[in-house]
Amino acid sequence: MKADSTVQRPSKKRVVIRVDPERRAWWKETMSNLLPEMEVFLWDEDSYCKEEINYAIVWTPPHGGLARLPNLECVFSVGAGVSHITDDPSYPWHIPIVRTVGPPLQQRMREYVALHVLRIHRRLPEIEAASKAREWKQFVEPVAGDVMVGIMGMGNLGTPTALTLRGLGYQVKGLSRRGRPVDGVEVYKRDDLPRFLNNLKILVVILPATRDTDNIINHRTIHLLPRGAWIIGAGRGTQISDSDLMNALDEGHLEGAVLDVFRQEPLPTNDPLWKHPKILITSHTASAIEPSVGGKIIADNLRAFMEGQEVPDLVDMTQGY
Ligand SMILES: NC(=O)c1ccc[n+]([C@@H]2O[C@H](COP(=O)([O-])OP(=O)(O)OC[C@H]3O[C@@H](n4cnc5c(N)ncnc54)[C@H](OP(=O)(O)O)[C@@H]3O)[C@@H](O)[C@H]2O)c1
Repeated sequence: MKADSTVQRPSKKRVVIRVDPERRAWWKETMSNLLPEMEVFLWDEDSYCKEEINYAIVWTPPHGGLARLPNLECVFSVGAGVSHITDDPSYPWHIPIVRTVGPPLQQRMREYVALHVLRIHRRLPEIEAASKAREWKQFVEPVAGDVMVGIMGMGNLGTPTALTLRGLGYQVKGLSRRGRPVDGVEVYKRDDLPRFLNNLKILVVILPATRDTDNIINHRTIHLLPRGAWIIGAGRGTQISDSDLMNALDEGHLEGAVLDVFRQEPLPTNDPLWKHPKILITSHTASAIEPSVGGKIIADNLRAFMEGQEVPDLVDMTQGY
């Protein structure tokens, strides 16, 4: 980033983009086409005056980077989560953040959770093992209506996921901070966590990463689940204590876990989670927005923000999600 404070204020608003290296050129070209009324720069590659940047579109910006843009008006997260921005201790909290969500993201999360709930409930790994071993084994499971699934985080992703599971016939409970009601699903408030957990066969975590959700799945809360329960972790890696999870699997309190998100990503090859026989790892693929769709949503949100219109998915900066 090259600073030059002597130039005159530009007439066009200026946007800087910081995304993964492989797609940087694509993002610059796409956002320049979608926002022809603005000037678009890449975070590291382009020369620009940091005082003249109005907006930032980012994924995992380096700590301190956004604080160095003194006239920033709004930050756009390339994704539904914002902890990759707010975990920067120097983040200027008065600058609003807009996250990127939309129907494709919801649809993918529904598919991911339905896939793994059905796999667990209908014992797909054992069926595959039996098939490979040429063993004739007939598994007769309780029907979905006798299986209780809990969705922790009944927001933009959790609510449609809960309704999809209801549609498949499962019993579904939800948990959210405020307990906002959802038709067909009993939703518990944060303080009711023990009652929410007490009879779940499968717990699905789709929470945002905040101070309050840090390590929310730990020895104590895991043991509020009945013996033989499963956990699907699809929110953020900070929410589950890896060591407490592995201990509970080893002692047989939990039957298995599916994890999509981790404290460090990519998950290091020597991490014990990879080797645990009762854990299935997926590589943060539960739900992602295709860049072309995400680019369009961000451009619409950015323009709405600039024109003073209501912007959906503005982060509540007091809650951090
Ligand atoms: N694995 C993936 O591929 C993937 C993809 C996208 C997103 N994600 C993760 O999924 C998260 C959720 O996304 P979203 O769009 O559904 O977020 P959202 O719309 O903001 O919903 C968050 C939900 O969590 C609840 N919540 C927040 N703090 C809580 C707490 N301490 N205890 C209980 N409930 C709490 C909220 O309660 P209220 O309703 O009361 O506010 C809300 O229902 C994201 O933040 C991101 O980390 C993962």
